[in-house]
Amino acid sequence: MGKLFFHNITPAVLDPIFGLTVQFDADKRPNKINLGVGQYRNDQLITPVLESVKLAETFLLREEESKEYLPIAGDSAYLNRVGALVFGEFFWTREGARVSRIQTLGGTGALRIGGDFLKQEVGEKVAISDPTWPNHRGVFTRCGMVVKAYPYYDIRLQTLEFDRMVQYLKNLTPGTAVILHACCHNPTGADLSMDQWKILLKLFKENGLLPFFDFAYQGFGISLEEDAKVIRLFAAEGMEMLVACSHSKNFGLYSERIGALYVVSESAKITEAVQSKLKIIVRTNYSNPPRHGAAIVAHILSEPVFRKMWEQEVEGMRSRIEKMRGLLVEALTTRSLKRNYLYLSDRVGMFCFSGLKKAEVERLQKEFAIYMPLDGRINIAGLSEENLLTVVDAITEVIS
Ligand SMILES: Cc1ncc(COP(=O)(O)O)c(C=O)c1O
Repeated sequence: MGKLFFHNITPAVLDPIFGLTVQFDADKRPNKINLGVGQYRNDQLITPVLESVKLAETFLLREEESKEYLPIAGDSAYLNRVGALVFGEFFWTREGARVSRIQTLGGTGALRIGGDFLKQEVGEKVAISDPTWPNHRGVFTRCGMVVKAYPYYDIRLQTLEFDRMVQYLKNLTPGTAVILHACCHNPTGADLSMDQWKILLKLFKENGLLPFFDFAYQGFGISLEEDAKVIRLFAAEGMEMLVACSHSKNFGLYSERIGALYVVSESAKITEAVQSKLKIIVRTNYSNPPRHGAAIVAHILSEPVFRKMWEQEVEGMRSRIEKMRGLLVEALTTRSLKRNYLYLSDRVGMFCFSGLKKAEVERLQKEFAIYMPLDGRINIAGLSEENLLTVVDAITEVIS
């Protein structure tokens, strides 16, 4: 035997969300329910391939001529169409030359390339919300950044902590990048109002903070257009910023790993320099991105008939979430008088806090085979008209 290199390695802690799915899959109870998963589910609790995606794939299967490498930055048609979807046609046509763009491996890949870029070119300070999607801390720490957390939400009172957030941001060192959920804040589902975003815009300008929008849920909040409003507001005000987009959710392309990073800078000349740096980060990491997901999205967004169909499908997913949220609030409010659940009505997107405590979440899993992370975050799309009352009865039981 040669020298041993790996014997001192101990197992890492499982990722909280993917770890929960492993436990759920291993559970043999037939009536198990997964409210922890980070994916959209339809009424049958499956994550379907969208019709528009299927049709685009059929087209690509027939028409695609080559599987040659994409350029380092990715599929330019994809980046162009998504740029317009995110920033709006008006800004994109007039100011698109000021925006560097890279196709990435999902939203996570966009955050990671963005973090690597910031650490290398701008500074190492980044602030994430408390609470936030758990991977934010991991990703930016891996980039070698110093991660702080700004107050965002009081989980005890189930309210936004906007004043504390503002106070905290005011004291950050100029040049700090601040990760902002553009819509459908994960895990709270509590978004800022437009008036609050305007206050932040002023603060970011005055204090020299760099906005980095995480945009993983366009279309799941209010609408495709409304959900992009804050990004468009900041862009229209001439802010330099980063935007990390994901098409895992709104195109249901979770496993295709398709997303994009946009970096808005002051002038087209600077954009060229930024683009060259982003490309080196990609080239030395995975060289260039995969073709299929980008081709699907580009095709759907550029063909009016496909696009219309996709827009309707996004609206269908959004409205199912809204419907299930309404039914949940109604059922909880009538059956379980112990706690106030009305705050849930104001939440947007797939996620929100159930208000359940750790011990209650553990009981739900152990006694009722209902799964969610220990902080009580639930994915509303994990509910169906069939399982709703089972869930509500179990919640009522564990909190009594
Ligand atoms: C807030 C947030 N950002 C980024 C991501 C990453 O998305 P992707 O699966 O496309 O990497 C997610 C996925 O759950 C998310 O919730």
